[in-house]
Amino acid sequence: MVLERQYWKVMMSRFWSPVVHSLTPYVAGEQPVIEGLVKLNTNENPYGPSPHALAAIGQAVNDTLRLYPEPTGLKLRRAIAASHDLDPGEVFVGNGSDEVLAHTFQALLKHELPLLYPDISYSFYPTYCRLYGIEFREIPLDERMRVRIEDYRQPCGAIILTNPNAPTGTALPLTAIETLISEHPDQVVVIDEAYVDFGGESAIPLVRKYPNLLVVQTFSKSRGLSGLRVGFAVGQRPLVDALERVKDSFNSYPLDRLSQAGAVAAWEDRDWFEKHCELIIASRERLTAALGELGFEVLPSSANFVFARHSIRSGAELAAELRKRAILVRHFRKERIQDFLRITIGTDAECDRLLDALREILA
Ligand SMILES: Cc1ncc(COP(=O)(O)O)c(C=O)c1O
Repeated sequence: MVLERQYWKVMMSRFWSPVVHSLTPYVAGEQPVIEGLVKLNTNENPYGPSPHALAAIGQAVNDTLRLYPEPTGLKLRRAIAASHDLDPGEVFVGNGSDEVLAHTFQALLKHELPLLYPDISYSFYPTYCRLYGIEFREIPLDERMRVRIEDYRQPCGAIILTNPNAPTGTALPLTAIETLISEHPDQVVVIDEAYVDFGGESAIPLVRKYPNLLVVQTFSKSRGLSGLRVGFAVGQRPLVDALERVKDSFNSYPLDRLSQAGAVAAWEDRDWFEKHCELIIASRERLTAALGELGFEVLPSSANFVFARHSIRSGAELAAELRKRAILVRHFRKERIQDFLRITIGTDAECDRLLDALREILA
């Protein structure tokens, strides 16, 4: 039986390029279709995108779809640049921040010395390292599950931090980020700010001062557009040029016409964005307090999710029990965090359903 399985494995993979054998693909959160599902597992926004974005996408559905889109997302880059008093040449856009990050790893993070990032962080980072053959060293979070920038004072090729961190939700203040950047003037420092709009401090204001800083953000979380796939990076010209070179060696048109139209409209609707970020922050504080009453330790979160562990019940068991009740949360089978659940902040009604289910499970 074992021999037969091995035979089929060899037969199935005999056409693969050598690198494919060494890959450990990232496992994305589930997207199942279950009736009445409360989906709190992939940090999507429960309120969805701005109605202006939906209208702009609708208007873009016309005969111009026969033409290729503008290849650099210029209108969107102009809008993002204008908000930060930057030049459009200092903004790069891509098909979700995952694609922007992938180009960043290939273009800027492969050096003789290892890339540093926290041991508990976005689990796509080691996947990119394996894909591009990048040496890396994972730096342990401290005992309170926080990034300690002193631990990054060591020889390295580059650094990437998620701030606020994922899946912990904890944030470093901008002063700490600036110290890190200034202590590594000869290395690129990437700050992945997927969750920054829910209470973190963005490092974008530092871009003009530091040629080694690249900040990456996404439209998937605070702008409710996970399904449109739009992300961007902000940095000085030489860093953005490197990303453009990789992009134009891979896919010249990463953002289609609908994505560009929708993202520009979403970016310009500041009121919708601010109002719904505030709602999510308020629900997060409410959920944090309620989970505390149920015996959970909840890490201080500046994101649209909380990371929590129960004093007695295991993370795997709780996730499985919630699933039986059509409530999805994220559980990682990884040392140090296997007792935690990462719970996306839904509407208050969704949070209440989660809390009711937990009360039932814990009773
Ligand atoms: C820390 C972090 N960075 C980047 C991403 C990628 O987001 P997207 O590709 O949807 O822009 C995610 C997605 O969950 C994330 O958690």
